[in-house]
Amino acid sequence: MCGIVAIIGKENACEHVLNGLKKLEYRGYDSAGLAYISDKKMFNVRSVGKLNKLIKVISESKYSKLESSKIAIGHTRWATHGKVNIKNTHPIIYDKKIAVVHNGIIENYEKLKAKSFLKSYNFETTTDTEVIPVLIDSFVSNGKNFFESAKSTLKLMEGAYAFAAIHQDFPNEIFVARNTSPLVIGVGQDFKVVGSDSHSITQLVNQVIYLEDGDYAIIRDKEIEIYDKKDEITNRKIVNVNTDIGVVTKDGYRHFMEKEIFEQPNVLINTISSLLQENDKIDISTQKMGIKKNKSILISAAGTSFYAAVVAKYWIEKIANISVSVELASEYRYRNPSNIGFSSMIVISQSGESIDTLMAMRQAKKLNLKTTAIVNVEGSTIDREADYSIYTRVGPEIGVASTKSFTSQLTVLFLISIKLANENNSINNKDYKNFVRLIKTLPNSLSKCLKINSDIINIAQKIKNTSHTIFLGRGYLYPLALEGALKLKEISYIHAEGFAAGEMKHGPIALIEENLPVIMFLISDGLEDKSISNLQEAVSRGARTILIADKESIAKAKFVNFAIEIPEFEKKFVTTFSPILMAIPAQLLAYHVARERGTDVDQPRNLAKSVTVE
Ligand code: AGP
Repeated sequence: MCGIVAIIGKENACEHVLNGLKKLEYRGYDSAGLAYISDKKMFNVRSVGKLNKLIKVISESKYSKLESSKIAIGHTRWATHGKVNIKNTHPIIYDKKIAVVHNGIIENYEKLKAKSFLKSYNFETTTDTEVIPVLIDSFVSNGKNFFESAKSTLKLMEGAYAFAAIHQDFPNEIFVARNTSPLVIGVGQDFKVVGSDSHSITQLVNQVIYLEDGDYAIIRDKEIEIYDKKDEITNRKIVNVNTDIGVVTKDGYRHFMEKEIFEQPNVLINTISSLLQENDKIDISTQKMGIKKNKSILISAAGTSFYAAVVAKYWIEKIANISVSVELASEYRYRNPSNIGFSSMIVISQSGESIDTLMAMRQAKKLNLKTTAIVNVEGSTIDREADYSIYTRVGPEIGVASTKSFTSQLTVLFLISIKLANENNSINNKDYKNFVRLIKTLPNSLSKCLKINSDIINIAQKIKNTSHTIFLGRGYLYPLALEGALKLKEISYIHAEGFAAGEMKHGPIALIEENLPVIMFLISDGLEDKSISNLQEAVSRGARTILIADKESIAKAKFVNFAIEIPEFEKKFVTTFSPILMAIPAQLLAYHVARERGTDVDQPRNLAKSVTVE
């Protein structure tokens, strides 16, 4: 979602802002722009489309003193209010002298616009953001300085937001504020920089300050004054962050998504080795997680992370005999949930910034549940606010479609499952050791799964022109059917629905028509014959069937149109590990269909990597 970068006190400020915005591109956006002050004059340049377009616009026109400016703010916009057009592109400028970049939603912007003291103002955009520079101007016109004006503006705003503002008559200051949406200040010696995440600014600094909810600050080249929501000056911790990991490249792959799919064997080694000690003990504290005897566990997340949660429910209940409830974060946060029977909540989030997941976690805290975050981005809001964090350690995931995050989340969740099972004696030491041994073989198994790439390309070419698809799975593979459908729809724009195989006759079978691709994930789990019958029923109604399965199941379903066989895995355990193994064909299928259709695989339309607004 929207990305913010701002700099004060550094030569070539605009170039640094553009570099920072480049690093935020993965969040997804539809337009971009920057504003800078030079000789007490505000300039701005904006364009609809990707950053390269903005850079082209800058290089093709002469922008006054762009190189020499030492103060600049920039933005990548993911439209919430108002169409994608130049007028609505940030920075939103008022009267050529105040510029604002904003992430989030100002919920009461209509009411603010209607304030009687703003009667004389003309609003030129259809954004919620414009009310910020207008309010600042109204306060400055009444004699307040920039800081006091921005602060007064902030006090009127409701919603979840982060923003940065500059004023040409106060060229030595940037005002920033945060409420729920993330914002980080980088501390350079003679300059300061602001970003939506630390990754966007670590090419310039290795010390950062994470603003907390309700914080606002006035930033000058050599000083930062931070105030908390009670308007008291506050000292937020300066945190050392890993130095710049550099610009992440595609390393010869066509898309980041392709690279991230193929990276999975290696990143899984990181995930596993960071949590599995040499003595095969798992470095996760179930005590810190707040897990208690006779209490259920709550897991909450969004999107792909939610489907990982559903798999975890199946694992933990089966292996550790502990009951688990899974909750879509966007639902949990608003439905006055009860804490009866629960002592802990696990939230799962790649970005650590999904607003729904963050809010679900805060809700759980209010209910006195201990919170654990399974998160990829260290230092993200969810990581910082959780009582306890477990990292997936897969490195930056740039493609909007979550791939390596999913398999690593599953791996962490499986480790939690067997740790719990071992602690409450649901499995004995021998079983535990066996599971650990198999976890260590996962990277190798995933490498083998990747070898089915060319078979999948073949199928992708056959179904690329379809408008609808159905994904089916049962048991551990039911959440995978949901994930397979999500992956396909988000990057190929083909309508895809996932169902539990057993649900077909309860309604979805009505959708089957001649040639509709029905994709089933299947494993010999003792129930495969039932699922095969479900597939037969689809065939009888004209569906084209694609089976992704183990050898035994494929042998039983010779009638399907296409079959993809997953590599062999220890027979007794293949069912348990099937969601991790079959994630690879699900991801490859979505990827190749989208690539064949020529969509923007890494930044699909309308989507964002970090969903920081509701
Ligand atoms: C997955 O491919 C999605 N783009 C999306 O569903 C994502 O998983 C969801 O928004 C949650 O993100 P998070 O893990 O960063 O919280």
